[in-house]
Amino acid sequence: MILQGEHRRSIARTDDGAGVRILDQRLLPWEVRWVELRSADTAAVAIREMWTRGAPMIGATAAYGLAMALAADPGDASLARAYDTLLATRPTAVNLRWALDQVRAAVIDLPAAARATAALARADAICDEDAALCRAIGEQGLALFRTLHAKNPDRPLNILTHCNAGWLATVDYGTATAPVYLAHDAGIPVHVWVDETRPRNQGALLTAFELANHGVPHTVIADNAGGLLMMQGKVDAVIVGTDRVTANGDVCNKIGTYLKALAAADNGVPFYVALPYTTFDPDTATGADVPIEERSADELTRLTGPAEGGIATVKVTDSPAANPAFDVTPARLVTGYITERGVLDRI
Ligand code: MRU
Repeated sequence: MILQGEHRRSIARTDDGAGVRILDQRLLPWEVRWVELRSADTAAVAIREMWTRGAPMIGATAAYGLAMALAADPGDASLARAYDTLLATRPTAVNLRWALDQVRAAVIDLPAAARATAALARADAICDEDAALCRAIGEQGLALFRTLHAKNPDRPLNILTHCNAGWLATVDYGTATAPVYLAHDAGIPVHVWVDETRPRNQGALLTAFELANHGVPHTVIADNAGGLLMMQGKVDAVIVGTDRVTANGDVCNKIGTYLKALAAADNGVPFYVALPYTTFDPDTATGADVPIEERSADELTRLTGPAEGGIATVKVTDSPAANPAFDVTPARLVTGYITERGVLDRI
């Protein structure tokens, strides 16, 4: 990730090696603040309250959280308690359970004295692997982008994305954004339509921040604008990340993704989903079986933004509000899955 001229991962161990540092994403793009997590409970708060978010990053943070619990107390009860606490933070992204299972499997048969070191090593490996997976997704997507751009070589390749599936949501590169970064770096002119992604505005706040930092031309649009842009021929492809792809290829992602897939299908625009294998859930049959997170109505009824002296919240309505955070895009609407192994038309 490129931020203020330096390349750093979204999550990394603190200098003393005992904790991890992450960006507080609630403050972006107004303030860049790294925070340290030094216990499983703090890691759980950071995930639940969305200091950090995005499926792979949730998994990475939880992996370190479990390791930190074992550093404090390597016993079986501590392992079980921290595993349950971290797993309960957010229900939809399957990377959370995957990462916790990885760490638990790495330590369960070890003597207590060896567990913390082994758990930290496994969490480090999860992060190294996630960065490599996202890089590979980027390379697979780059080949696709070359083909797409060749169809209209006289204009920039116009990509539409929803939510933030960038380096903030992963350890590095992102999933949906990795092909964008690699294409931009390779000299392919690429422009990104960035859905604002109400209610938390991950697109307007986070994806736009990332793209601006990387120098990628982009335009923030209201969530409802994509259909018109597709109808006008201004979108060459939609690319989104995902929190979970089920055995039949259904795609669970940020609320609003499904409507983009419908509009893409109606307008003959290819709809791609970028994911590493860690986001594939072969044990869940279809999207109907995925728990959809219901978040606080406050996210909908209040607006948050920078103000003199800090960040201010303004109330928009007193009416009751419902806030499902994810939806399911049926596999039949997906043109291809951009994975580390290639662009697959079926998963
Ligand atoms: O609620 P969030 O911000 O955690 O939701 C994130 C998304 O929906 C992302 O698109 C998804 O996790 C893919 S991240 C590579």
